[in-house]
Amino acid sequence: MTTTKNSDGLRGISAGRTAICTCGHAGNELDYRGYSIHDLVAHASFEEVAWLLVHGELPNKETLQDFCGRLKNMRSLPAEVRLTLENIPKQAHPMDVMRTACSMLGAVAPEGDMKNQYQTAERLLAFFPSALGYWYRFANHGERIETATDDATIAGHLLHLISGTPPSEEKRQAMDTSLILYAEHEFNASTFTARVITATLADFHSAVVGAIGALRGPLHGGANEEAMLLISRFSSPQEARDGIVQALARKDKIMGFGHAVYSIADPRNEVIKKISHQLAQQHPDGGLYAISEAIEETMWAEKKLFPNLDFYSATAYHFLGIEVPLFTPLFVISRTSGWAAHIIEQRGDNRLIRPNAEYIGPASRAFIPIEKR
Ligand code: COA
Repeated sequence: MTTTKNSDGLRGISAGRTAICTCGHAGNELDYRGYSIHDLVAHASFEEVAWLLVHGELPNKETLQDFCGRLKNMRSLPAEVRLTLENIPKQAHPMDVMRTACSMLGAVAPEGDMKNQYQTAERLLAFFPSALGYWYRFANHGERIETATDDATIAGHLLHLISGTPPSEEKRQAMDTSLILYAEHEFNASTFTARVITATLADFHSAVVGAIGALRGPLHGGANEEAMLLISRFSSPQEARDGIVQALARKDKIMGFGHAVYSIADPRNEVIKKISHQLAQQHPDGGLYAISEAIEETMWAEKKLFPNLDFYSATAYHFLGIEVPLFTPLFVISRTSGWAAHIIEQRGDNRLIRPNAEYIGPASRAFIPIEKR
């Protein structure tokens, strides 16, 4: 067996080729299929971006309309999935709900032939907001809701299901932008997990279930929840500054800061920060924005660390009226587009992913019979 030089966490190692996304070039750039994230948030909807990621090109008007129509028609949940969701306890983390719902869908509506992969991707994009909304309303309010609403977009659909009423256009737009920002990020942990599973020729749902598991951890998608818990611990910017200095002295990790790829800034931060600022103006907890800025300033002054997408997403979601445990599931709803693109790309030029490990255990030795141990 050959061994190559070990790199902790595979930092800086190219683990495969992709035509979907490039991040971190020039220190802080992010492009989906060659389009800058800044152009996409300024001009495109999440549905356009999801199509772009999965198919490689922006859709024309007719293609987009058909795609949105199909997504809308796939919002109902199979009875077996509804029953499964009703059996997930209220105390469960909503990421358990996403993982379980995806697995159940894979059992009752399996992908079957790989020729169905595009249809499966669309079904999952339409499915996750419905699954989350159905469970959330059943677990918290005992309601069995109809998930097939008339909302034109995924952003509107999911906010409608969670709150029970269609959102204002400002809130819908804010959610739409957040979905674009979270849609894709090259070989991050959850996407790489999806590709590893896909490379074994397993089915689409198994790859997405694995990706959800990887996304959940606080070093990945779970960081937005941890960031909100941190921000809401402080009642003033000064308290936040002091608290962060003390936390850094204890060598605590401050969730929502730093990045494995970007070296100057996370390009998504300036977009989500602006949204958080706008939403703060009309919210009774708007003061949390100033607390977030105080944390940002302190992290830069003390550690030269910048906020990543998760940091201001936390307050943006809070101002949208979303409870903290639902933050990472929203990430799932968005990233399903990126995962789908990577699953399809991996299948298009597949080889089993099987790296080596640098062995650091004992040298070869003689077996010791059990009576002599
Ligand atoms: N808070 C405090 N210190 C941090 C930090 C953070 N958020 N992120 C990195 N550091 C420090 C580390 O403690 C380490 O310091 P040391 O050299 O004194 O030990 C140094 O910066 C390098 O950190 P490391 O974890 O090795 O860098 P990485 O490239 O592997 O980390 C992350 C990338 C994202 C895992 C890391 O920044 C992190 O854990 N951030 C918080 C979780 C988060 O927001 N995740 C979402 C990512 S989008």
